[in-house]
Amino acid sequence: MYSTQEPDAGTPLRVSQQLVTLQIDGVPVTVPAGTSVMRAAFDAGVRVPKLCATDHLEAFGSCRLCLVEIEGRRGFPASCTTPVEAGMKVTTQSDKLAKLRRNTMELYISDHPLDCLTCPANGNCELQDMAGVVGLREVRYGSEGENHLVGTKDTSNPYFSFDPTKCIVCSRCVRACEEVQGTFALTVEGRGFQSKIAPGPTGFVESECVSCGACVQACPTATLMEKSITEMGQPDHAVVTTCAYCGVGCSFRAEMKGSQVVRMVPNKNGQANHGHSCVKGRFAWGYATHPDRLKHPMIRAKITDPWRVVSWEEALRYAAGEFRRIQEKHGRGSVGGITSSRCTNEETYLVQKLVRAAFGNNNVDTCARVCHSPTGYGLKATLGESAGTQNFDSVDAADVILVIGANPTDAHPVFASRMKRRLRQGARLIVVDPRRIDLVRQPHVEAEFHLALRPGTNVAVLNALAHVIVAEGLAKDDYVGQRCDQPEFETWRRFILQPRNSPEALEEATGVPAERIRWAARLYATGGNAAIYYGLGVTEHSQGSTTVMAIANLAMLTGNVGRPGVGVNPLRGQNNVQGSCDMGSFPHELPGYRHVSDPTVRELFSTTWGVPIDPEPGLRIPNMFDAAIDGSFKGLYVQGEDIAQSDPDTRHVSHALESLECLVVQDIFLNETAKFAHVLLPGSSFLEKDGTFTNAERRISRVRKVMPPLAGYADWQVTLELAKALGYPMHYEHPSQIMDEIAALTPTFAGVSYERLERLGSIQWPCNAKAPEGTPVMHVEAFVRGKGRFVVTEYVPTSERTTRKFPLILTTGRILSQYNVGAQTRRTHNAVWHEGDRLELHPHDAENRGIRDGDWVSVRSRAGETTLRAQVTERMQPGIVYTTFHHPESGANVVTTDNSDWATNCPEYKVTAVEVTPTATPSAWQEQFQRFSEAQAGLMPQR
Ligand code: SF4
Ligand code: SF4
Ligand code: SF4
Ligand code: FES
Repeated sequence: MYSTQEPDAGTPLRVSQQLVTLQIDGVPVTVPAGTSVMRAAFDAGVRVPKLCATDHLEAFGSCRLCLVEIEGRRGFPASCTTPVEAGMKVTTQSDKLAKLRRNTMELYISDHPLDCLTCPANGNCELQDMAGVVGLREVRYGSEGENHLVGTKDTSNPYFSFDPTKCIVCSRCVRACEEVQGTFALTVEGRGFQSKIAPGPTGFVESECVSCGACVQACPTATLMEKSITEMGQPDHAVVTTCAYCGVGCSFRAEMKGSQVVRMVPNKNGQANHGHSCVKGRFAWGYATHPDRLKHPMIRAKITDPWRVVSWEEALRYAAGEFRRIQEKHGRGSVGGITSSRCTNEETYLVQKLVRAAFGNNNVDTCARVCHSPTGYGLKATLGESAGTQNFDSVDAADVILVIGANPTDAHPVFASRMKRRLRQGARLIVVDPRRIDLVRQPHVEAEFHLALRPGTNVAVLNALAHVIVAEGLAKDDYVGQRCDQPEFETWRRFILQPRNSPEALEEATGVPAERIRWAARLYATGGNAAIYYGLGVTEHSQGSTTVMAIANLAMLTGNVGRPGVGVNPLRGQNNVQGSCDMGSFPHELPGYRHVSDPTVRELFSTTWGVPIDPEPGLRIPNMFDAAIDGSFKGLYVQGEDIAQSDPDTRHVSHALESLECLVVQDIFLNETAKFAHVLLPGSSFLEKDGTFTNAERRISRVRKVMPPLAGYADWQVTLELAKALGYPMHYEHPSQIMDEIAALTPTFAGVSYERLERLGSIQWPCNAKAPEGTPVMHVEAFVRGKGRFVVTEYVPTSERTTRKFPLILTTGRILSQYNVGAQTRRTHNAVWHEGDRLELHPHDAENRGIRDGDWVSVRSRAGETTLRAQVTERMQPGIVYTTFHHPESGANVVTTDNSDWATNCPEYKVTAVEVTPTATPSAWQEQFQRFSEAQAGLMPQR
């Protein structure tokens, strides 16, 4: 039988310069000081029986199964809690030890249901294994008397169950929840024989539990067990792949039964997640086989026509014919494409290649336009590379962590757990966010400073922090002198020292007390290694790019770039948003961020691709919309992005999509954009294809096919077929060949190949002759651009202001259980935690408007109106309201405006002036949305 259990060294790895040599069963072994005897034995090839120990948790020493004999010591110490000492002589096997271990196991088994044959864990259970290892053949005690064999199974969590009758109270689950996840949802209640595991009084689903699965993974028995295993049985093989949700890029073992996923288990060797996961990657994969999946290509002439199921060949011929017809009539630039940050690097590369080579223009863009395009712009301008500077492991060396405009516990949960662990170890935290996000105060984690700024004033706060650092002489002058461009720095220095950039002068605008900014600045500049982590709360503003540059200024000023523990770390939203940008998805850049106007770069690509490359940058997504409404842009190929739901000002987007003559949507579901389409090409989920994703730390990881594509083709194959139908055949048999071409054309990817990925597990670019194994930390000796460049970051208030008519500021974000437009997570049990978007508002604002928790409220802005349920909460500050955008009918983006970042057009999702009033009815848009959706559903072929 396939074993789901990975080798387990019993206790965590210790790192020490000091090495200790000891003998295990007569065999010498040398290990770092601080290593446990159990782990030293593991290194010597000896497996000491164990139950309560596991190598991702600190040892607890409760089960007494791992006893050993140590020469010169009395008794039988537990090997998991005994550190090695030089010259120690350890015996792990003896008659006495065997008897003691058998007796211990006998006690466990006598209080355990004897239903192994029908237990879902049968064959993959540590308790069962250990009974075998210690040679337990009979149990002398009956099941009469006091025991734990009666108990109620908690099945409240949709993904796993808790059967207390099988619990051996080893506390691995409790420790996993504390040490790995950092949620502290579980406790051991009672003492001695009475002790039991409890997730609180109401069961798992109502508890603090965030369903990360760490406890399930840690449990050595069937007490905590995935329901999928109970339903489907044990897997027969596993394939290592990468999560397709967020930019953390967790590595998973997809455990399979034939071509059916039985469970996803976070990969212990995963370099981004080190064996941890969140509820989405771990459990929310059921969407991949949901009945709503599109399985057949379809076409229609008008969006009011019923869909007609056709063959792949006909659909592709029709799409290609339409694109060519449009180009003949309206010009080469009248069509374009949108690549997907949900798809693989190879697929994204192909879509931009199709646009550039087959359409013959640069009208290609990606969803990074609406999230992290300012990161690309801002970091390139200051540091010289459009990517974060560190790896995730770097946080372990941070002394001060500044989180700005990010909510990692909801949006990047696995990294958040890592960060919380570092904070519990003593790192100090500054949070800059309008909301009191969870990080501000969590069990054993508390921000030293929460700068609760007004939305839209990031630049003012960052300038004020920099002002204090320079004015108080806290800058790292040597670092700046050696590594940064001096004339630029001097200009910036004069700017930042101006009194108008002081915290006092900006206090009214930011809403943050000046003294608090001063203290936070001192902490950031002098607290040791200081790392900045930021998210969409930085980029999705009219000054998004300015904010990114202000962050880079702050990091350079304090010497916090170029080594572990520091840096500028954008927390990327989508699984492959870094990759889609790297792959040339922007209309002005070829792969590797090289401008289309550069003749040398164009020459390189046109020679390989066999066609000339247009030297003019193409249209960005918002320009495509405007041009569609103007009538000059008529055809669009959208792979795996739901622009109708995710882009701002929904009515404008809908109008643009309705204006197109040919909209080709390639997606796994009939999403909101597909309702405006003329050609539907079924997409493939990440489980159905080979390729790579690049996460927020520039880490390229393999995505591996575990099941055949439901509709017959993986996304990369569909693009190939479309290119062929357009008369530009591309010849690849496997995504590895696409990566070979990327590597040949892109200096930062020069050393990347599937063979090397196989060998190294994953690679952080740049990977080339200089860095054949990749680059965990960038800008080590010097900045990529040479001298770091300070950019003057003038604070310009957004034009979106509150007025008497719109007195509140709406800001938007995400929630843990749902993902982005929700197309996947809404089709899983995650709906249990979030079945609809809510409008969060402060009790004062609610009371002033006569709104109670749970009431329906109308949210009205200059752009539009929608109706949501209210959630009254002190997380919000007065004057600011918040919602998520995971459900299309909520229409959060009906309300957001078309304001955008001055440099990149990234929409200003985070600042919309609104008024909120009680209502009893859906908005006019919602009623129209409902009618349109029903009509579109009626046009689908009957299932
Ligand atoms: S639930 Fe599992 S991990 Fe937790 S104490 Fe019981 S047996 Fe141990
Ligand atoms: S699923 Fe995660 S959060 Fe919930 S109890 Fe287990 S470890 Fe804790
Ligand atoms: S943290 Fe992100 S990548 Fe990791 S499991 Fe969760 S959604 Fe997937
Ligand atoms: S494994 Fe050492 S006491 Fe349980």
